[in-house]
Amino acid sequence: MTITPPRYRPHDLPSSIPSAPAPAPAPAPAPTRRAPATLPLEGSAAHTPFAVRLAGLRRTFGARSGEVVAVDHVDLTVEPGEIVALLGPNGAGKSTTLDVVLGLIEATAGEAAVFGMRPRSAVEAGLVAGVLQTGGLLPDLRVGEVVEYVAAAYRRLPHAGVDDVLERAGITHLAARRVSKCSGGEQQRLRFALALLPDPRLLVLDEPTAGMDVTARREFWATMHEEAERGRTVVFATHYLEEADSFADRIVLVAGGRVVADGSTEEIRSRAAGKVVSARVLDPAAASRRLTALDLPGDVRLETQGHRVLVHVRDVEAADAAAITLLTACDGRDLTVVPASLDEAFVALTSQTTSQTMHQEIR
Ligand SMILES: Nc1ncnc2c1ncn2[C@@H]1O[C@H](COP(=O)(O)OP(=O)(O)OP(=O)(O)O)[C@@H](O)[C@H]1O
Ligand SMILES: [Mg+2]
Repeated sequence: MTITPPRYRPHDLPSSIPSAPAPAPAPAPAPTRRAPATLPLEGSAAHTPFAVRLAGLRRTFGARSGEVVAVDHVDLTVEPGEIVALLGPNGAGKSTTLDVVLGLIEATAGEAAVFGMRPRSAVEAGLVAGVLQTGGLLPDLRVGEVVEYVAAAYRRLPHAGVDDVLERAGITHLAARRVSKCSGGEQQRLRFALALLPDPRLLVLDEPTAGMDVTARREFWATMHEEAERGRTVVFATHYLEEADSFADRIVLVAGGRVVADGSTEEIRSRAAGKVVSARVLDPAAASRRLTALDLPGDVRLETQGHRVLVHVRDVEAADAAAITLLTACDGRDLTVVPASLDEAFVALTSQTTSQTMHQEIR
């Protein structure tokens, strides 16, 4: 039996495999490991310092009410071997940015390069592959058959073996199971196996663990750690601060189509160096009124939890003033002053930008 190679190009995979009709499954091509990469094509990719380089990247989408600016002047460089999280709220522009890196869409303005090449060329050279959250997976085929089928598309390129990627994605035991019977997390692992086929130097993951439970998520990231230790560069989008914090070397916080912070977790936290001053009071409503009347400097947010009043501040003087007022004018007890959590830093940094620039419309 011979394989009929898919007619789509490798860069369309694995996100856009048509769900029907499914071709007859065929035996796996003999597993081949990618030869040590000597990089072909445009420029001297082997010598480029950057895995990803975005300069002034802008992407707009047409809409009836005007154009939506999904990505607005993003500058970003990722060094080979880095693990970078794009973290941001819904609509921040994460997927759009990653789609440009994967060559799925073109930039409206600015530049995008992957290992010094146009993203499409890099995908075609097998240097980059993506795991997207959605995309057909030939539900009637068995897991192993899907991998064999997609592997056929890479027959002209050095590629990893079918058994190898099944094992690395932790789904060898699922090889004979129909895709339609696999859980969401298992299907994500299958997408991951497909992304490993070209043995890419750069893996781009768009919310790869969405829909997975805590255990599946942990297992997925353990696998990704192994891939990163092999020297692969990983760029992933997530909503989960904890995921970005525990897996990435670096967090790029995006909101409203822009990069609002870029650095280690500690740096991100210190960018929004806030404090939460709190005390127990007899009359929380009266205490809140007094605190509001102070007109404290900087961003201030009041919160009550039962008899405890919490004052979220960015400014050191505001923290001191709130503490004094709670103790003296509000008869407060059990005063605490703690640094704002990473969650609060995230909200503070993104909400500010979001309100300024999100869904910016060009009339
Ligand atoms: N094809 C499209 N047509 C019109 N608008 C679009 C299109 N794709 C994205 N957008 C808009 O661009 C903005 C950024 O979308 P994008 O999908 O990049 O965000 P995201 O950060 O990935 O969000 P989420 O966390 O919800 O996945 C959003 O306002 C979205 O509605
Ligand atoms: Mg998205």
